[in-house]
Amino acid sequence: MAVYRRLDPARLPKHVAIIMDGNGRWAGKRSLKRFLGHQQGAESVQYVVETASRIGLPWLTLYAFSLENNLRRPRLEVSFLMRLLRSYLSNNVQRMNDNNVRIQYIGRTQELEPEVRERMEWAAEATRHNTGTVLTLALNYGARSELVDAFRALYREVKAGELSLEDLTEQDIQRHLYTAHMPDPDLLVRTSGEMRISNYLLWQIAYSEIFVTDRLWPDFRGIHMLEAIEAYQRRERRFGGLGESTDAADISHEAAGKTLVPR
Ligand code: FPP
Repeated sequence: MAVYRRLDPARLPKHVAIIMDGNGRWAGKRSLKRFLGHQQGAESVQYVVETASRIGLPWLTLYAFSLENNLRRPRLEVSFLMRLLRSYLSNNVQRMNDNNVRIQYIGRTQELEPEVRERMEWAAEATRHNTGTVLTLALNYGARSELVDAFRALYREVKAGELSLEDLTEQDIQRHLYTAHMPDPDLLVRTSGEMRISNYLLWQIAYSEIFVTDRLWPDFRGIHMLEAIEAYQRRERRFGGLGESTDAADISHEAAGKTLVPR
């Protein structure tokens, strides 16, 4: 694959997070029911997971079902998504094992139906020994509620005398997030053109590069993730600093109030 050869293996992201959007529009454009868009979307999930595994991506985190989806979508659609998740897990654990992929979850998963939770636990258990890509599905996930959960846990530590508020650091908050065991995403991809974060990993994406594509999720394949990674590799990450392409001399002129001579 040409795009794969163009990637710099030394600068692959460690963590890619994806907002999978556009299933409904994909179906609508074909005069199909929304359900069929979701079904096709589940196929895309597996393609992308296998590409992640092939390039040795350590962490892939997919926004599969938000708290807001759970509260605001018609019950029939929610129950379809839950059934789709169950069949996705049943049908793909073997392929995850073949690809050395381990599956985990983030979100208020305790609020999901017992049959769904059982299947989730089964898949996590069945892939626990794999050492390749960790596929994390965000399910019944919302970033603000994740922060609420973290603050509750911190409050318990303060009350137990294990932490004093004066000493609170960013690391204390980080270690109570659902993602405490992962690095922050280097790259956040969103499909179907919307320029929104939709309450996804708000704390964790502070310095993530964002890549938005107009492609709808059911049309998204591994190669499109590689294209996003290629775009990511062309960018310069600064983390609030200046980055390598800034000429330090320019800064000292500016600081001295001197006029810059165009070069
Ligand atoms: C957005 O499409 C997507 C979702 C609500 C959930 C994502 C679900 C899947 C990709 C399928 C199932 C996933 C797994 C892991 C089995 P939308 O309905 O919001 O699209 P629209 O904005 O075009 O209406």
